[in-house]
Amino acid sequence: MTTIPTLNQPLSELNEQDFANFADLACKLIDDAQNETQLQELKVALQGKKSEITVLSKQMGGLDANGKKTYGAYLHELRTRLSKAFDERGAFLAFLALNEKLASEQVDISLPARGVATGSLHPITHITQRMKQFFTQAGFSVATGPEVESDYYNFEALNIPDHHPARAMHDTFYFDAHYLLRTHTSGVQIRTMESSEPPLRIICPGRVYRCDSDQTHSPMFHQMEGLMISKSSNFAELKGIIHEFLNAFFGKEMTVRFRPSFFPFTEPSAEVDILSDNGKWLEVLGCGMVHPQVLRNCGINPDEYTGFAFGMGIERFAMLYYGISDLRLFFQNDLRFLKQFA
Ligand code: PHE
Repeated sequence: MTTIPTLNQPLSELNEQDFANFADLACKLIDDAQNETQLQELKVALQGKKSEITVLSKQMGGLDANGKKTYGAYLHELRTRLSKAFDERGAFLAFLALNEKLASEQVDISLPARGVATGSLHPITHITQRMKQFFTQAGFSVATGPEVESDYYNFEALNIPDHHPARAMHDTFYFDAHYLLRTHTSGVQIRTMESSEPPLRIICPGRVYRCDSDQTHSPMFHQMEGLMISKSSNFAELKGIIHEFLNAFFGKEMTVRFRPSFFPFTEPSAEVDILSDNGKWLEVLGCGMVHPQVLRNCGINPDEYTGFAFGMGIERFAMLYYGISDLRLFFQNDLRFLKQFA
């Protein structure tokens, strides 16, 4: 380490010039300190307990009043100069260190960024929203109900008593003699008719379950059913709403066919086909006028009110809308598939 300057005399033999020379040399050393460590070492040597200043300060006690005044001033001046030099050099070294740190931590803004993955709606959710949008604008409200349903709401109340052959169409998952996984959302319509007064206009979207699995069937799938009850509902109105819905959903004028069919809970019943671009008829939904017995089961007088109902598979609409041939793709959660709908 650099040699520390020294005053080297008893205090009383020093003069103002000696102090000034000492301060000059010490300040030069401080100004030359290359880093914080060197600066600290100099502080200890020049201002510490064993430093010359401390030693000389202790000799003040042996001086007369005049000496105390004179040397007190010299020492004070010396201390002040040193402190100022230390402060300035310290600030400058800190500034250098900061610059060095900033230079070494510089961010290369030309580096390619790490990608941020954004999620998106599942295609089934998207299609459900598209369907809902039409019906809510037409004044229908959304009703929901339990997926674990009783035999009564899923079958009995819908005019499908025990041992009715129509039960075979449903491939039901039973829990026991009374409870099952709902095979359609028609039970929600019964619950709504029971709990509210007509006129009614509802749609019932939701998960349903059937013991069936292949390219076009999945044990869990989604349905959107609808119900309208009023004093004047009729088949023409049903046809009009369904046709308008299909036009709105596919975004073009559709060629639609109502084909007579059978459901125990509607009479008359129909299945609806659309004409595809390749000239084939594709079945898309079932519908009909609500069976008087179903109204009666829910405490609605069929002589006063009539209604219509319709039900469709959401996956089927999603497959047609997106041109997908295998329904199982919707439930495999393969990101390569799902990302296409972002
Ligand atoms: N509930 C029927 C089904 O799931 C669909 C349907 C609803 C048919 C309403 C007619 C009227 O198969």
